[in-house]
Amino acid sequence: MKKAAVIGWPIQHTKSPLIHAHWLEKYGLRGSYEAVAIQADDLKEGVKRLVGEGYSGFNVTVPHKQSIISLVDYLRADAERIAAVNTVVVNPDGSMEGRNTDHFGFTENLKSRAPEYKTRGPVVVLGAGGAARSIVYALQNMGANDIVIANRTYANARALAAAFPPAIAKPWEAIPDLLKNASLLVNTTSLGMKGQPQLEIDLAPLPDHATVYDIVYNPLDTELLRQAKRRNLKIVTGIGMLLHQARPAFEAFFGTLPDIDDDLIKKVLA
Ligand code: ATR
Repeated sequence: MKKAAVIGWPIQHTKSPLIHAHWLEKYGLRGSYEAVAIQADDLKEGVKRLVGEGYSGFNVTVPHKQSIISLVDYLRADAERIAAVNTVVVNPDGSMEGRNTDHFGFTENLKSRAPEYKTRGPVVVLGAGGAARSIVYALQNMGANDIVIANRTYANARALAAAFPPAIAKPWEAIPDLLKNASLLVNTTSLGMKGQPQLEIDLAPLPDHATVYDIVYNPLDTELLRQAKRRNLKIVTGIGMLLHQARPAFEAFFGTLPDIDDDLIKKVLA
């Protein structure tokens, strides 16, 4: 029986066990997927234990996505470029490969929710943290070469843009101006998430053909997306990114690339 897990701290709110259990059942596979709480100081020992116990692999979440890099044997190109690992595959010889599937989640969700979207026009990315990094990587892989990153802390936007040329950085105050010719606006910040302040942006300057993508999924219907709907703009919600990033991880652990169905979406949003 194949075993997989998600490691992090805290870990009780993770949706990953629910998602993987749904697929194990749906595809009639014998396997297990559990949440394992591992604190930062115990990461090396915790990972060693999982490998020793014969796990096929594990997902990695806060706060280990960067610190796991020095513990794996090698990185796939995406994890290396994004400088973060969310999936570790344990090979039969016990060696570990670090991968990143967040960019896949972002791209697949955009393709499935806004199939007509073309990455040719300017893209405005709000935020410059870990999620933004995987998203800028995803957008460039999709062919977007006009990416502007706006972030509260300008220095973080500059650092991210410098790592992904020809992306450029702009201060947060420039947002109204940046929206004027944006084809896609992506919120990668935690603003609008339950318990966080709202993302207070007036979408009026966006062109009528613009798409608005919010990676926040709790709530699904964020204030940003509600505003976009009032303007009749195309919207992309965040739940698909969470679900799609889990698909290639499931395939690596259990051998089947799973699909997303309505039952799964309902379970995750419940
Ligand atoms: P994640 O991995 O989810 O991207 P992160 O790396 O902590 O998390 O990044 C959070 C992002 O949300 C950052 O871009 C952060 O801006 P700063 O670089 O200025 O910290 C942004 N963010 C968080 N709270 C914010 C707020 N109140 N206003 C504006 N941006 C905020």
